[in-house]
Amino acid sequence: MEKGTLLYEGKAKQLFQTDDPEIVWVEYLNQATALNGAKKDQISGKGELNNQITGRIFDYLKSKEIKNHYIKQLSANEQLIQAVEIIPLEVVVRNVAAGSFSKRLAIPEGSPLKSPIVEFYYKNDELDDPMVTEDHIKLLEIATADEIAQLRQMALEVDQALIELFDSMEIKLIDFKLEFGRQNDGSILLADEVSPDTCRLWDKKTNEHLDKDIYRRDLGDIIPVYQEVLNRLEKRGE
Ligand code: C5P
Repeated sequence: MEKGTLLYEGKAKQLFQTDDPEIVWVEYLNQATALNGAKKDQISGKGELNNQITGRIFDYLKSKEIKNHYIKQLSANEQLIQAVEIIPLEVVVRNVAAGSFSKRLAIPEGSPLKSPIVEFYYKNDELDDPMVTEDHIKLLEIATADEIAQLRQMALEVDQALIELFDSMEIKLIDFKLEFGRQNDGSILLADEVSPDTCRLWDKKTNEHLDKDIYRRDLGDIIPVYQEVLNRLEKRGE
């Protein structure tokens, strides 16, 4: 398979065409960003870690019958995925209060939530990714009512599967963000990535952060922490 022209460049990944219009070549970058791009750094090794972590997690989700776009690893920082039209929504699932949720509602970080909460954010840099309700999503014609129901259900299924996975790695899944895409026939696939960049992961015993909050909050070096997440994933697969 040939790597073709650049299709799209995001904050953490580049997407390239291949000789098959149904397949996209992804290169994970070393760039880290926070505060919608206001904080930006090159962190050597980050792309390789997120590529490998995402690949393993998407394979695990496939084994749990959660349809996703992942095909296979190509190299330490490259993978092949199925081409989809990304739905411009960030679907956030929360099990424990943290981050923007704690700030907005004055609920202390670390407070467990009785049942998982699903939130939708409109992916739009100019608007700073505002939170949107189902009515807003329909009004803006981002997705239909039926698609919104599917997104919510798939997000909750991913939550259950990931809680189980991370629990087996001695990690608590606090919250995470998902993105979804449509295939030509209209079916919806989980897309983008699932990594310590997109999840809040706390060590079960010590509550230490094993995720991007280390970077966002200037708590230290993310590389050993992301490596620890990959090591625990690999150990599980042995
Ligand atoms: O910042 P907030 O508390 O809303 O983040 C909720 C979850 O979504 C966190 O796990 C965070 O890593 C993830 N997220 C993300 N990309 C964004 C915003 C949030 O991966 N643009």
